[in-house]
Amino acid sequence: MQDRYGHRISYLRVSITDRCNERCTYCMPHELQEWLPREDILTYEETHRLIRISAELGVSKVRITGGEPLTRRGVMDLIREIPKIPGLHDVGLSTNGTLLAREVEPGTTMARALRSAGVRSVNVSLDTLDRHIYSKITGRDFHAQVIDGIDAAIAAGFDQIKLNTVLMRDRNEDQLIPLIEFAAARNLILRFIEMMPVSTTEVLDEENFMSILAAKRMIESRYGSLILEPEFRTNGPATYYQIPGRRQRIGFIGAMTNMHFCESCNKLRLTCDGKLRPCLGSYLEFDIMKPLRAGASDEQLRQFFLDVVDRKPEQHDFRNNYQPGRKMIAIGG
Ligand SMILES: C[S@@+](CC[C@H](N)C(=O)[O-])C[C@H]1O[C@@H](n2cnc3c(N)ncnc32)[C@H](O)[C@@H]1O
Ligand code: SF4
Repeated sequence: MQDRYGHRISYLRVSITDRCNERCTYCMPHELQEWLPREDILTYEETHRLIRISAELGVSKVRITGGEPLTRRGVMDLIREIPKIPGLHDVGLSTNGTLLAREVEPGTTMARALRSAGVRSVNVSLDTLDRHIYSKITGRDFHAQVIDGIDAAIAAGFDQIKLNTVLMRDRNEDQLIPLIEFAAARNLILRFIEMMPVSTTEVLDEENFMSILAAKRMIESRYGSLILEPEFRTNGPATYYQIPGRRQRIGFIGAMTNMHFCESCNKLRLTCDGKLRPCLGSYLEFDIMKPLRAGASDEQLRQFFLDVVDRKPEQHDFRNNYQPGRKMIAIGG
């Protein structure tokens, strides 16, 4: 699939739930969250069918996300089936890490079950190593579980584990170096992400926004000039660098300040309530659940995908006062 600006779509991010066991300030509000009713959520069969159709159209990588995907009941029933879909070479999962160390059966952690099911990579969100700051950011006291979860993921032997840190001035700017050391000790890739205006509007303002450039400067003042690695790419928009004198790699995702951010975009998103979104940073979304439940054929659904890709914008709209009606938790980050 290719859009009118030359973006080749090979990556589908699939949100399987809008629910979460945490309450990150930048993702969802603290007040009582209204979850979507169950009948408005795609069933596993429906999700599987849409992923299969996307794979027939050239999607080769799928990342399962949410909300917190590991909170959905029976999640392994879906995840086990996805790597079997012809054409998919890479299945990943984004998680807050809180449930990775949980035993799903005696002697088997969730992380190991995911690995055995064919999941190749996991991205774990970790904004701080300080338990109190962690609770402030996420609204929950789950820091220890997350660290255990990361270690369970390492023990499970994924091809790749990445840590994702959302940059917040005054909240975790003093955590960047400790996080780098934490990632180094475990040989993990760490990525710093600029906060995007996809949650409650008051979250993002001049006071708490920290650019990737500011983070990079802070890191360089400790380690010296970072060495750009233009050849190294994962599947997303991150730019990677090596820390001088180390084999450690860190990444920066600058949706707000990197003007080339959208050039190599290869993504499409499927929300848990059956909307296809050609771009995270645009209000555009198209309801594929409706034709799906009205009995559309595979061919009709394939055409739906192609039409959505054709509407993919050249670039996101975050910088022009994007005022989302939806929270990140509902779109799937
Ligand atoms: C929405 S979460 C879903 C998966 C899982 N619950 C987790 O936290 O990793 C996916 C990613 O989006 C990031 N995220 C959420 N809200 C964001 C925002 N306003 N700006 C930038 N990143 C955000 C989270 O930090 C996380 O790394
Ligand atoms: S970022 Fe992830 S863990 Fe935090 S509230 Fe959003 S979905 Fe939940």
